[in-house]
Amino acid sequence: TTPSLLILAGDGIGPEVMAEVRRVIGWFGDKRGLTFDVTEDLVGGAAYDAHGTPLTDETMAKAQSVDAVLLGAVGGPKYDALDFSVKPERGLLRLRKEMDLFANLRPAQCFDALADFSSLKKDVVAGLDIMIVRELTSGIYFGEPRGIITEGNERVGINTQRYTESEIERVARNAFELAMKRGKKLCSMEKANVMESGVLWREVVTRVGADYPEVELSHMYADAGAMQLCRWPKQFDVIVTDNLFGDLLSDAAAMLTGSLGMLPSASLGAPMENGRPKAMYEPVHGSAPDIAGQGKANPIACVLSFAMALRYSFDLGDEADRLESAVSAVLEKGVRTADLLGEEGVTPVSTTGMGDAILAALDES
Ligand code: NAI
Ligand code: MG
Repeated sequence: TTPSLLILAGDGIGPEVMAEVRRVIGWFGDKRGLTFDVTEDLVGGAAYDAHGTPLTDETMAKAQSVDAVLLGAVGGPKYDALDFSVKPERGLLRLRKEMDLFANLRPAQCFDALADFSSLKKDVVAGLDIMIVRELTSGIYFGEPRGIITEGNERVGINTQRYTESEIERVARNAFELAMKRGKKLCSMEKANVMESGVLWREVVTRVGADYPEVELSHMYADAGAMQLCRWPKQFDVIVTDNLFGDLLSDAAAMLTGSLGMLPSASLGAPMENGRPKAMYEPVHGSAPDIAGQGKANPIACVLSFAMALRYSFDLGDEADRLESAVSAVLEKGVRTADLLGEEGVTPVSTTGMGDAILAALDES
């Protein structure tokens, strides 16, 4: 059956970058004979404007039934004053929650042409290609009890770090599967030295590892991991960690490689009946109201999110490589959107200009 894809472009630059992805999808149909059953719908502020809710039940049901969701970005100043219950972000949160997307994949990949752009030395980041798997639906952001209580004559803010064995096991399994498809190296990060949840985390990850003898498993305290990520990130292949540490480590790792306009992500859940995981792919960046409507947005993060969909939802790793190589070739040629300008004397291309360049590079591939 034809693989199905639901596109939710969202707000701000979301629709602008998604327009370029649509052209890329069209290219794969025309030139590679890969057709996708694509439907489009509204999310975030755009859905609120049309329906009074950031995600309708119909859209939610559609998201549950397709092989993959590709999302642009949501939010913007126009919606800042809205009640929390209908804020654009709520659309995104509902998708993540109801699809139970427990594994968040954040690659930190450095295209050689942009190595000068990093805050680190060029040899530290050139050719970097690591993947952080962050547990996304449990841990301290959700654990009970939580709240602000009064104790004696002062208030106490409380959050609880809590992980069940099954929650650790499923994200660990996901990370091992990923490691099998990549460099067969997995580093698990927690703080087993000071946290009970960390002790259990390490134990369960080790146990799951017995099913993956080919994967070289190591453990690191998350604070040491943060240091190692900055010192010599190329020592890692796949990193698996909890929600809180993953939030910090993935943001830090992202900045090893430069612009927000370059960063894709995937959020995966349990396998569906057809064996594919529930999946949503989206750029890390937001709706960028400061540049929306000006044709300046870098579409690469969204294009690379589609490449992740090719690889992880549709088992088209070779085609994902083809698309990533095309992006790399475009950067090698010096094509830059405004957010990637470092060198002097380079005139930036528009969002569409970058799309044109990617299609041309695909034609040459
Ligand atoms: P942002 O990611 O939208 O923008 C941060 C900065 O990066 C801005 O200067 C922007 O121009 C630039 N930037 C981001 N993506 C870019 C791209 N593709 N090309 C070129 N430049 C790019 O984050 P910000 O400004 O904090 O939030 C703006 C809105 O987006 C808010 O309403 C926020 O709630 C929402 N947001 C939505 C997210 C999502 O949909 N997943 C994630 C983060 C924020
Ligand atoms: Mg974060």
